[in-house]
Amino acid sequence: MTAKRLDGTAVAAQIRAELKPAVDAFAAKAGRPPGLGIILVGDDAASQIYVSSKAKSAGETGLRADLVRLPASTSLEDLLREVDRLNRSDVHDGILVQAPLPAAMGAGAARRVFDAIDPAKDVDGFHPLNVGRLVQNRDSLVACTPSGVIELLERSNVPIAGASAVVVGRSDIVGKPMAMLLLHRNATVTICHSRTKDLPRVCAQADILVAALGKAAFVTREFVKPGAAVIDVGIARLTDRAEVERIFAPGSPARATFDKRGSVVLGDVHPEVAKVAGALSPVPGGVGPLTIAMLLKNTLRAAEARGAGR
Ligand code: GUN
Repeated sequence: MTAKRLDGTAVAAQIRAELKPAVDAFAAKAGRPPGLGIILVGDDAASQIYVSSKAKSAGETGLRADLVRLPASTSLEDLLREVDRLNRSDVHDGILVQAPLPAAMGAGAARRVFDAIDPAKDVDGFHPLNVGRLVQNRDSLVACTPSGVIELLERSNVPIAGASAVVVGRSDIVGKPMAMLLLHRNATVTICHSRTKDLPRVCAQADILVAALGKAAFVTREFVKPGAAVIDVGIARLTDRAEVERIFAPGSPARATFDKRGSVVLGDVHPEVAKVAGALSPVPGGVGPLTIAMLLKNTLRAAEARGAGR
């Protein structure tokens, strides 16, 4: 079997195309576009790419996006002041502080910052009020990556109700909200983590397997029930030739990419899974573009909820 490709790039483009007229209608009524404030602290290479893509995509869909870059030496107090400024801003409906924050800010910094964002502008869905509303299956701003996964499954006609869903990873950003969204769509959900016993056996029960553990190529074919839908949330860049040769078969496009560029991007799912799964989201081109599309959707939603004209 060769897995059907769950094309996140195409689904994200479809979502953005659906958003555009609603964004334009908001702008016409409010006299301004929906606005997103993005804060990036420090110079983490991956984060710089992510926030640039978010800002670019927002602009292309007609939103206003302001990127605030702060040096890695920024104090937590200064970052909180910047969040407060965006909380008070009339032209910003959504606020996103890119994670991870510099380690020097301290262990609890991210939580303090996410807690400080006005829940009505919390387009990441990380504020405890929005998380609580999600747990109770009430209307809320929901974390972008897991809600993008749901869009991908639903628009690719993967049945969720009654399915056995296994989520590998229990992060606040992906694993936990992912489990809730699947549960609210009537899947039977198992959350696995680093202490789960016999992880391959548990994963192999899944009709829907979501890999969000952050270990490149960790999920091999023994984790996957033949025909299952596998969603790869991981993203890593390999620069070590021996590792690339261990994971990718000779003659594969990934090896050619590595030979050309000296690196290759892959997710948590081993490429051999494509031979077993019924459907598989690729990396890149799977969940990543959907995360951005859902951020735009959340920003429009926050703008509409705050009310045109404010
Ligand atoms: N870092 C990785 N993913 C995310 C995300 O969805 N939101 C924010 N704010 N930071 C991230």
